[in-house]
Amino acid sequence: MKYPLVRLRRLRENPKLRSLIEEHALLSKDLIQPLFIGENLSSPAAIASMPGQFQWSFNTLLEEAKALESLGVSSVILFGIPAKKDTRGRQAFAKKGIVQRAVAAIKKKCPKILVIADVCLCEYLEHGHCGHVRDGRIQNDATLKTLAKIAVSYAGAGADVLAPSDMMDGRILVIRRALQANGFEHTPILSHAVKYASSFYAPFREAAGSVPSFGDRSSYQMNFSQSREALREVQTDLEEGADMILVKPALAYGDIIYQIKEKFSCPVGCYSVSGEYSMIKAAARQKWIDEKKLVYETHLSMKRAGASFIISYWAKDILKWKIAK
Ligand code: PBG
Repeated sequence: MKYPLVRLRRLRENPKLRSLIEEHALLSKDLIQPLFIGENLSSPAAIASMPGQFQWSFNTLLEEAKALESLGVSSVILFGIPAKKDTRGRQAFAKKGIVQRAVAAIKKKCPKILVIADVCLCEYLEHGHCGHVRDGRIQNDATLKTLAKIAVSYAGAGADVLAPSDMMDGRILVIRRALQANGFEHTPILSHAVKYASSFYAPFREAAGSVPSFGDRSSYQMNFSQSREALREVQTDLEEGADMILVKPALAYGDIIYQIKEKFSCPVGCYSVSGEYSMIKAAARQKWIDEKKLVYETHLSMKRAGASFIISYWAKDILKWKIAK
């Protein structure tokens, strides 16, 4: 059968029909709000390249978490900016480190919120790389030991989920074993398994104070000309004990999310990163695009690609705008 009997426009005729046949929706439970906490701040510091986002001080972080909880935001992911960086990343696994204290305080004050802790070294090392460096090279295996210490420390502080984002080989295995050995065998790992070396991360590095002082991250993050390599990253991380997989960035990587969803049965999420946020904010400020509609469209594209959850700087706004179901 074909035109004039077949007419695809029939089902687009009115909102009731259009909504009847909708296959994908954005749900409030899908959204994870990233939060930056600055150890040496006493009031929030605006992040210039990310209008509406802040580095929070300890007390204002708790107020913000409470506000998110009342709005119905169900999860947050924390990034710490320590007062002191060093060559070992000591503040990342310090008992009284900023993330450790923030995790414990949010868990106490906001019992409905799932608290995810990003596990990485870039905010804690003087040179801003995600691993230890010797003679200009990233020391993969030495980094694993530190990552395991950080993971155990965050789990001890009460983090509900750990999200390693460093891209060292073997990190999931080493972290999973360390968790097992320290009584945290039930703590889930959300692996940033598929993290591309992307220019979309630039505003985050301003926000987190983690611009590498030399070179770039392309010896550990993935080359965006590869797609099948993403499947190997997922496979190895699942074999090493990851529970969920993250694709990052999100906006230009729907094909990757889709392929992972097709080939693996694990939960897959994506991270709509800082540059995606800044780009849309900048255009919206010029009134060149409608921010609310475009954010709904981009986030729905991530759901359509197969993401079960989305780390998004708009999580709070999306709930305020009531565009999630
Ligand atoms: C690194 C890390 C990055 C982001 C979060 N953790 C990327 C990087 O600096 O290479 C980016 C997130 C964003 O852009 O919003 N541990």
